[in-house]
Amino acid sequence: MKLKSLTSIDQVDEEFLKRLFKIAADFQSPPSPFNGRLFMPPFLPGQRAVANLFYEPSTRTAASFHVAATRLGASVYSVDDVQFSSMAKGESLEDTIRVIGGYVDAIVLRHPEDDAAERAAAVSPVPVINAGCGAGEHPTQALLDLYTIEREMGPLSSLVGLKVGLMGDLKHGRTVHSLVKLLRRYDTKIHLISPSGLQLPLSLKRGDEISLFSLESCIDQLDVLYLTRVQWERMHSSQQSFVKSEYSVIPKLMSKAKESMILMHPLPRREELPRELDDDPRAVYFKQARNGLYVRMALLQMLMSKG
Ligand code: NCD
Repeated sequence: MKLKSLTSIDQVDEEFLKRLFKIAADFQSPPSPFNGRLFMPPFLPGQRAVANLFYEPSTRTAASFHVAATRLGASVYSVDDVQFSSMAKGESLEDTIRVIGGYVDAIVLRHPEDDAAERAAAVSPVPVINAGCGAGEHPTQALLDLYTIEREMGPLSSLVGLKVGLMGDLKHGRTVHSLVKLLRRYDTKIHLISPSGLQLPLSLKRGDEISLFSLESCIDQLDVLYLTRVQWERMHSSQQSFVKSEYSVIPKLMSKAKESMILMHPLPRREELPRELDDDPRAVYFKQARNGLYVRMALLQMLMSKG
């Protein structure tokens, strides 16, 4: 399937995903010539341009898309200071996209509104990549998360029954909203662990998945623990007083977790992921962030290739 834009993880089929991961792996460890791997050479300098439009703060996603595009030989136009853009003059997202889409070969968009990527893709002359919109989806994060799980735990076909704990602010956490959909395709056993009031939205819930308020009762069974921070910026202050911290117990609970469990986090972290965990060999979140570079290179390469 040739994908034009990536606004939701639902658009990614198995064939696209396998090809993406193969190209990403080849970027990560370039193959020697003629060994049959899928390595795609970079574009020639000046052949492609990417716009990075970030209307919400970002470090990893913006930087990794920027570096990914440059490594592919593309030039990058970045807007991350909305006050200096025409948005500040009241220009609609659609108009900005139409205009910028006339200058570049792909648009990477982060925006505070859940439906922004779809609206952008509907009018854009070039592929739009959702780099996290509101509390909706963050499909490229889910792709790099699954890529990390595959590299750490084994091929996608062997993930059946893998016990994955998704913990934190599952209501507002867009990374989880995309990842949960992707994990279900492989018949993993999902445990949803969140404080009350921050559970996964009903529209994303499935009856056969275990919902818990505490990690303690399941940590010894998990193969993957995916932590997320509380998205304070997406909450009313009245909600904040409801949030009780389950997180402070995590370092202690790690002694009950399997030796083979991996601890993931999309970052940035707050108090839920104390630095003392960084030396735990099960902590893979910095590797996970680095994997994002290769997955984003592969995605840009696939979306910007003609034919
Ligand atoms: C996430 C995001 O922006 O949704 N960050 C990221 O892209 N790695 C997670 C978060 O902000 O908590």
